[in-house]
Amino acid sequence: MKNREEIVIVSAVRTPFSKFDTAMADIASIDLGVMVMKEVIERVGVRPEEVDDISYGSCVPAEVALELDVPGRQAALLAGFPAENISLSLDRACCSSLTCVRLGVRAIKAGEAEIVMAVGSENMPRTPHLAPGLRKGERLGHIRLVDPLFELGYMAKGFNPVAKDAGEVALEYGVDRQMQDAWALGSQEKYARAREEGKFKIGEELMPVVIAQKKGGPVVIEEDESPRKTSLEALARLKPIYGSPTVTAGNAPPLSAGASAILMMTGKRAEEKGLRPLASIETIVASATAPREIATIPAFTIQKALGATGLTIDDMDLIEINEAFAAMPLVSTKILAKGDAQKWEELQKKTNVNGGAIAIGHPVGASAARITMTMAYELRRRGGGRGVAAICGGLAQGEAIILRV
Ligand SMILES: CC(C)(COP(=O)(O)OP(=O)(O)OC[C@H]1O[C@@H](n2cnc3c(N)ncnc32)[C@H](O)[C@@H]1OP(=O)(O)O)[C@@H](O)C(=O)NCCC(=O)NCCS
Repeated sequence: MKNREEIVIVSAVRTPFSKFDTAMADIASIDLGVMVMKEVIERVGVRPEEVDDISYGSCVPAEVALELDVPGRQAALLAGFPAENISLSLDRACCSSLTCVRLGVRAIKAGEAEIVMAVGSENMPRTPHLAPGLRKGERLGHIRLVDPLFELGYMAKGFNPVAKDAGEVALEYGVDRQMQDAWALGSQEKYARAREEGKFKIGEELMPVVIAQKKGGPVVIEEDESPRKTSLEALARLKPIYGSPTVTAGNAPPLSAGASAILMMTGKRAEEKGLRPLASIETIVASATAPREIATIPAFTIQKALGATGLTIDDMDLIEINEAFAAMPLVSTKILAKGDAQKWEELQKKTNVNGGAIAIGHPVGASAARITMTMAYELRRRGGGRGVAAICGGLAQGEAIILRV
């Protein structure tokens, strides 16, 4: 390892996260990526040519396929980064944008880069149906269309829908439907309160999305579109989806479009440039386990991150666990509490204090960077502290980061 210096986040931004059928859902994920890539450097006066390395995550390849491939390279060029810029487009499912942060940290530590960018971008509603077999020609009969969004699973290769695995494993951990609905209601309520308090405002984690119109002024999107008022009674009435015993449209996140970006450099470089870091990265780790155990992986990845730093969960002022479904924060905080009911309560109170993906939305490749910046900005509002953010990704992959502000 060549560089043992502190690595800091100097800028972090995201677009609002869209609903399924609104104006943002027509924008290619690459173009959403371009918006955050420009904004994240402009905010801190870093020039495109100063960024040595860009990692770009997305995990709905069927949507990217409308523009072919290498979305990171395309977005970098469209955003005005020099032709010589090195980028990597990657897919580690919902972990992707934290994987990008991890690769950036690794590049700085290896002495290969000084200023690095992690990007995540997704537009799930824009995902087209696939028509397999058409290239060879269908001699006779109906053609088949495949919806890659439907059931969001890996069934073609014999794996279960994520909602089924998550719901079943949650029940095995004693996390029932009522608890998941209560968490979902809490997510909506915490988000509504935070927004009312001005926490999700333009200039902090959010940037506006401006969509030019053929006639008249542009459409400007400045707020997340999915949050909704709900109640335990309304949530209880919803039917489970995709063969899951517990997961419903109410305790799952919606299908969203959105992008996020994080800019990192050494603390020394930030000081030289007169930049005030948003957060210092204490560690970032990846993990994986048996695919069915996806609801547990945030906990085990957090434990791995804590193990790498010698810290304990009690040293964390805040926890973010992505609400892939309500099952994930509930099961994972229960594992972290190690059978102590009071501790489980305490950990739940520290987790996703401003709401989560159930309310905000979950444009899968962009969410890991989103939970990281949501936590960093909240730690800053509180005058500092430590937090851990963790996310699960398809087939039980995990990524966790510990930040100090
Ligand atoms: C669950 C899912 C299939 C729902 O899609 P949808 O049917 O287009 O969603 P809608 O917003 O129309 O919600 C469906 C119904 O539930 C209702 N609903 C949704 N959230 C609700 C809430 N919080 N309270 C009360 N009702 C709610 C809607 O009003 C709608 O009712 P209607 O059919 O009477 O109009 C989709 O959002 C999905 O696949 N989410 C999971 C995404 C995912 O797996 N991400 C990755 C995790 S790893």
